[in-house]
Amino acid sequence: MKIDVLLGLQWGDEGKGKIVDVLTPNYNIITRFQGGANAGHTLEIGGDKHILHLIPSGIFHSDTVNVIGNGVIIDPYILNKEIDNLRLKKVNAFQNLLVSKKAHLILPTHRLLDAVYERAKGKLKIGSTLKGIGPTYTDKVGRNGIRLGNITNRKFIDKYNLLKEKHLRILESYKWDEKDFLIEGLSFSDYEKSWFAAVENLKSLKLIDSEYFIDQSLVDHQRILAEGAQGTLLDVDFGSYPFVTSSNTTCSGVCSGLGVAPNRIGKVYGIVKAYCTRVGSGPFPTELFDTTGERLRDNGKEFGSTTGRPRRCGWLDLVALKYAIMLNGVSSLVMTKADVLSGFDTIKVCIHYKVNGEIINYLPFEIMNEDIEPVYHELKGWEADISNLTSLDELPQEFNDYMRFIEDFVGVPFDIVSIGPGREQTLMINKNL
Ligand code: IMP
Repeated sequence: MKIDVLLGLQWGDEGKGKIVDVLTPNYNIITRFQGGANAGHTLEIGGDKHILHLIPSGIFHSDTVNVIGNGVIIDPYILNKEIDNLRLKKVNAFQNLLVSKKAHLILPTHRLLDAVYERAKGKLKIGSTLKGIGPTYTDKVGRNGIRLGNITNRKFIDKYNLLKEKHLRILESYKWDEKDFLIEGLSFSDYEKSWFAAVENLKSLKLIDSEYFIDQSLVDHQRILAEGAQGTLLDVDFGSYPFVTSSNTTCSGVCSGLGVAPNRIGKVYGIVKAYCTRVGSGPFPTELFDTTGERLRDNGKEFGSTTGRPRRCGWLDLVALKYAIMLNGVSSLVMTKADVLSGFDTIKVCIHYKVNGEIINYLPFEIMNEDIEPVYHELKGWEADISNLTSLDELPQEFNDYMRFIEDFVGVPFDIVSIGPGREQTLMINKNL
């Protein structure tokens, strides 16, 4: 057996959570492999909205095993809260959630470091979600981190204090003052107390060596789906550096974030929103600053599910999409939020960039400093609301033309179209998934 992968091809917020939830009946195991609670995967089930930050989006299916792999970084306070919220919805996460012992912990001081680093960057700030992602991955790579498997060790508190002291020394150099920073609405001291209480609760989690678990599950013919977080253009190596997150959001992250060999990767689903959005700072060649951008934001309810920030909106960028498909080896495309484009007379897609008068078809290295002008191809829009359609035959011709144009440009077919947030608002093009 091979492990299938589902990931975002833009700057995150492509609607991955919903598609994982829709595909979950085809799988026995859903697993996260990178990122942390900077992610916010929204699922709408029976009109009820659920936002997951750390737990894989298969958790609402009682017979699915959900695995948080070693490449994910975990804030115990947030994971514990997420488990509590699920309990209110009658989902017992302790039952079918397995977590890698090798996943690193986000300490309260990592959250503070994230905040002081961002403040110090001034105008050049990344626009981080301030969940402690950058500082925690820095400590992991710097070989200073603490892993989830350490929480049951009697030396855990010594390790914690050692790392905390180190962080406090850095914080002092940034002239840190406790009263300037709240974490999840709490003072540092209160947060730290709740953090330790959460660590106690998490001792009841099933901690595993996820690489052995995944390997055995593949041998046992279990079907596994790896669920990406953020998006390809936020990848620490291939995204618009330094305006990126701190993990490999691309397919290679599955290998390192779960311990899966490259030859065991199967189908790769690439999720692409029908237009583009981005939260936080950084280049966005097709960004719209006019009423069309506002209309996309309003129609698409484009406000961050983790931070509530308004998302920047623009037309679909096929140069960037082709790059993302190349990096990930995407074999199957999924279009999300197709319904949001209803009612536009004209729809534009970026097919080249113009830099210093020259037409180019790649993402330039100095993407931040170059003046990139998108070159658009225009297609006719469609009037009809498509959010309640139940069959592919009912889709307007103009919508089909839009899909065909994208498929022809990037050379990969669409297998699924999502026309709204609900499970039922999903049209399967490929019936053999
Ligand atoms: P960080 O990973 O929280 O440090 O944020 C780094 C950049 O990635 C910022 O621009 C964030 O807005 C963006 N980002 C992080 N996680 C997500 C996500 O799940 N969706 C969309 N953008 C994200």
